[in-house]
Amino acid sequence: MAQHSPHREEAGLRPLEAKVIIVTGALGGIGGAAARELVAAGVHVVATDITPAGDEALAQWGADASFFRADLTQEDQVAALVAHTLERHGRLDGAFNNAGIEQHGKPLTQLDAAEWDRVLHINLGSMFFCLKHQIPAMASGGSIVLTSSILGQVAVPNAAEYIASKHAVIGLMRAAAIEGGPLGIRVNAVLPGAVDTPLLRRQFDDPALLPMMEAVRKAHPLGRFALPEEIAKAVKWLLSGESSFTTGATISIDGGFTAT
Ligand SMILES: NC(=O)c1ccc[n+]([C@@H]2O[C@H](COP(=O)([O-])OP(=O)(O)OC[C@H]3O[C@@H](n4cnc5c(N)ncnc54)[C@H](O)[C@@H]3O)[C@@H](O)[C@H]2O)c1
Repeated sequence: MAQHSPHREEAGLRPLEAKVIIVTGALGGIGGAAARELVAAGVHVVATDITPAGDEALAQWGADASFFRADLTQEDQVAALVAHTLERHGRLDGAFNNAGIEQHGKPLTQLDAAEWDRVLHINLGSMFFCLKHQIPAMASGGSIVLTSSILGQVAVPNAAEYIASKHAVIGLMRAAAIEGGPLGIRVNAVLPGAVDTPLLRRQFDDPALLPMMEAVRKAHPLGRFALPEEIAKAVKWLLSGESSFTTGATISIDGGFTAT
């Protein structure tokens, strides 16, 4: 017997191109690729970042995208982002909550409180504010994707604050999936391996670190870093009705890193 669901529309029948989706960190590598991928699929994207968008980014996204500048560590700015989306489009169907920063690259015994707070506020606190304000705005159900990392599952030296933040993102995702289920809101996390973005390149800026970069590359059985577009395609799937029974899941896109 066919089951009737009040969220049948979200459960795969609403085409991706009719959706209104927020993308955070949209001026960065992974967020930029996701925004372009979604715009190409006809999504109305509300792109956001802490830095103002240049004309080049706006031109790439096209007329169906708008940009709203926000520091996601500030709850009032996250609330304003969601309000802007509802004013402009009258609905919110999805979000790719992706903005984040890298670790300070020191042993945890040398981390000071400000460095710890900075990474936890940006990588985890922003996710809480986004979920808190996006979930009530998704009146017809929706899909939310959070960016965690391979370092949400395993650890390496000199990245304790980043590792703690990315493990916590997975816990927060599961909590939101449990609460979102009855509302027809799915919440999942992507766990990328090393992706060729400004964030990765900043970490290996110093030529002396080239051997370490090579070691990181080789730690991925596929023998290379990911392209941002390879993460964006998985995100697009999770935001679409094609993944309608997937919630509370961690999706590894890591070239086999965590299989070793
Ligand atoms: N690049 C990788 O190897 C890799 C691997 C695993 C996970 N990740 C995660 O993917 C996400 C995107 O990373 P990326 O590699 O594209 O980095 P990126 O530096 O290219 O982009 C991150 C974006 O987040 C924005 N941002 C930072 N702080 C913000 C704030 N307070 N408010 C609003 N926006 C802010 C930045 O301005 C930037 O545009 C991050 O969460 C990162 O931790 C990256």
